[in-house]
Parts: sequence; structure tokens; C-alpha cells
Amino acid sequence: MRIDVLTLFPEMFHSPLGHSILRRAQQQDIVEIVLSNIREFAADSYRKVDDKPYGGGPGMVLMPQPVFDAFDNVRTRHPDPGRAILLTPQGQPLTQEKVIDLSREKRLILIAGRYEGFDERIRIGLDAEPVSIGDYVLSGGELPAMVLIDAVVRLLDGALGDGDSAADDSFSKGLLEYPHYTRPEEFRGMKVPEILLSGDHGKIAQWRKEQSIERTKKWRPDLWQKRQSQPDPKTENEP
Ligand code: ADE
Repeated sequence: MRIDVLTLFPEMFHSPLGHSILRRAQQQDIVEIVLSNIREFAADSYRKVDDKPYGGGPGMVLMPQPVFDAFDNVRTRHPDPGRAILLTPQGQPLTQEKVIDLSREKRLILIAGRYEGFDERIRIGLDAEPVSIGDYVLSGGELPAMVLIDAVVRLLDGALGDGDSAADDSFSKGLLEYPHYTRPEEFRGMKVPEILLSGDHGKIAQWRKEQSIERTKKWRPDLWQKRQSQPDPKTENEP
């Protein structure tokens, strides 16, 4: 997969992209991540990329021209035209379902904005899909773009190390993941549940499923309701 990121702050990406799974995935050519600085495409000598909103109001708005030029510049650098995504609190929620869908693309072009917002013609003219990482407002689209990249890349074939798996991830079956334990067997008076030491894989699987259901009901009743109202045929017959 190739991921292009159009941003005013490419340096913000260096640390998250330079560690752990994202670093390894790039080294192994599982993903190529290319950062473009929108400011380099500003037309005037002051490198201006924002201006006051028509109609008045607070803050500044990202101008269309530098973003269109940055977009045109990267678009032809790969055979796949890519799926354009605009990170904005007004977007559709980034759910695990959407992450799985995005992970099937050959190319993503992420546009991270700053300031009060984007000129609307960026979304319309670039046919960019608005995506939000949650119902709260951050100071820009960079962190949301990093969140999206991390969630997508770990699903790409070979990205997780041997033994790691995305199959049991929270949300992958509409449930939160079960609790984990490692050594020691007892820590500050808290014991590892007996069943996990039993070696009975059937019983362990059953216990984990029950735990998943219990914590989903308790901590995310909204997810539980959703799962009840639209049962997943793949998981319906599971214990
Ligand atoms: N930009 C600012 N806040 C955001 C959010 N919650 N999701 C995506 N992009 C954003």
C-alpha cells in the first residue's frame, strides 16, 4: 500500500512513523508513506496557505490552491489514483469496520488540515471522504491522520509480528476484547483466573467469550445494543 499525507507539519509524523510496527512495515515494503508539505505549494512569496473566511467569523481557513497543487503533484506518482480522505471533526467516524475497508485499498491520500477548517471546495473538488476519529476537536488533522495510518497499517499482511494477530482485536466481532494476564500468577494479592492456568483450551475460549460479552455490556452498552440489533452471521453460532 502507498499512503500519501498532505500536511503543513510533516515533522510531526517522524516519530510515530519511525517506531515499532509502522517503522517495520515501511522497512519491509509493506507500506510506503510519503509526506508532502502543503506550504511548499503556496503560490505567493510569503508562502500563505490560509485566509479569512468569507461571511466573517473567527479563525482562518485553509485555501484551496496549495492543497489542490500538492494533491496534483502526488497523484500521478503512483499508478493507482488512490482514495482521498479529509481528516475533519465533521467526518464520518473512523470505526474498525472503516479501517478494515481502508486497508483493502492500494493507495490512500490523507489531507490533514489546520486552522478553523478547509475551504469546502477542497472536499468537493478532490472528491475527498471526510473522516473523524471521534467527537472531540483537535488542533489539526495530523494526529487523526497518524491514528488512521496506525490502525490501517497493522492490518496489512505481514505487518504484525509472528504470533500477533488482529483476529481477536476489540471491535473485530462487535465486542471488546477479553482481559489478558501474564506472569506472575499472583501480583499484589490479585490472582490470575484459575481457568487460564487449566490448560483446557475449550473452557478458556468459552471464558474469554463470556468476559468479552460482560465488559462490552458494562463499558460499551452502545456496542452491545448494536450487536444485538444486527447479529453478525459469522459469529452467531459461536458459543
Ligand atoms: N481535526 C480536528 N479534530 C479532528 C477529529 N476529531 N477527527 C479528525 N480530524 C480532526
